[in-house]
Amino acid sequence: MSKEKLIPRHIAIIMDGNGRWARMRGKERSEGHIAGMDALRETVRNVAQAGVKYLTVYAFSTENWGRPQAEVDALMELICKGVEMESAELVKVGIKVKTIGDRSRFSDKVKASLEKIEQLTQAGENMTFALALNYSSRSEITTAVRNLAERVAQGEIKAEDIDESMISSALYTSFMPDPDLIIRTSGECRLSNFLMWQASYSEFYFTPTLWPDFDKEELERALEVYSTRDRRYGLVK
Ligand code: FPP
Repeated sequence: MSKEKLIPRHIAIIMDGNGRWARMRGKERSEGHIAGMDALRETVRNVAQAGVKYLTVYAFSTENWGRPQAEVDALMELICKGVEMESAELVKVGIKVKTIGDRSRFSDKVKASLEKIEQLTQAGENMTFALALNYSSRSEITTAVRNLAERVAQGEIKAEDIDESMISSALYTSFMPDPDLIIRTSGECRLSNFLMWQASYSEFYFTPTLWPDFDKEELERALEVYSTRDRRYGLVK
């Protein structure tokens, strides 16, 4: 009897290796990000077609502000261009775009772009696509703890009422289940401040492929490996 393939409900991706991809071709790092955007466009469609309901990508970390200004500017430009070029197609294929992270540090232009794409795609029912922007797990958890502490101080909740589900609800990711599968490209095997709370029981898939080269075949390989994993959540079979 053939066993039905297990499809993750939520995939999260650390898209790494754009800079190395560019350097190997004698190009500017920003060109690596442009190629990375092409890979992202394809991956969003491929992941949705595979039947996955949530996709989260690490697009800009709180640490990325420390990169050369020209590179930060190029990434900001890519966000705005991406919104301009992809919105109509995302609406057509029923993909709802959300952002996670602290948007306050972005320029008014970037903020307006993000608000626009969230608003235009809000009725999408096939897949939710979350862009982690100015995101880091530690700052997310710090913000959540501060919010809960304020609610305790206001007398809205009691300290002893705080449980795991209340903490999950106070995170940027409250509208999504935890990721089943976390993929990182470029051969690095670390989480880099991404979804640390949410990754408690995630499966990890690391590939040496640089992000701009991550294609449908690569995704299929990751899904194949995932379907062979035995998820026990600390229990015994
Ligand atoms: C990591 O590669 C990639 C990023 C920091 C940015 C990810 C951005 C994209 C995939 C393009 C789409 C952009 C947005 C903002 C939607 P790296 O630069 O760290 O590569 P390296 O480790 O080889 O230097």
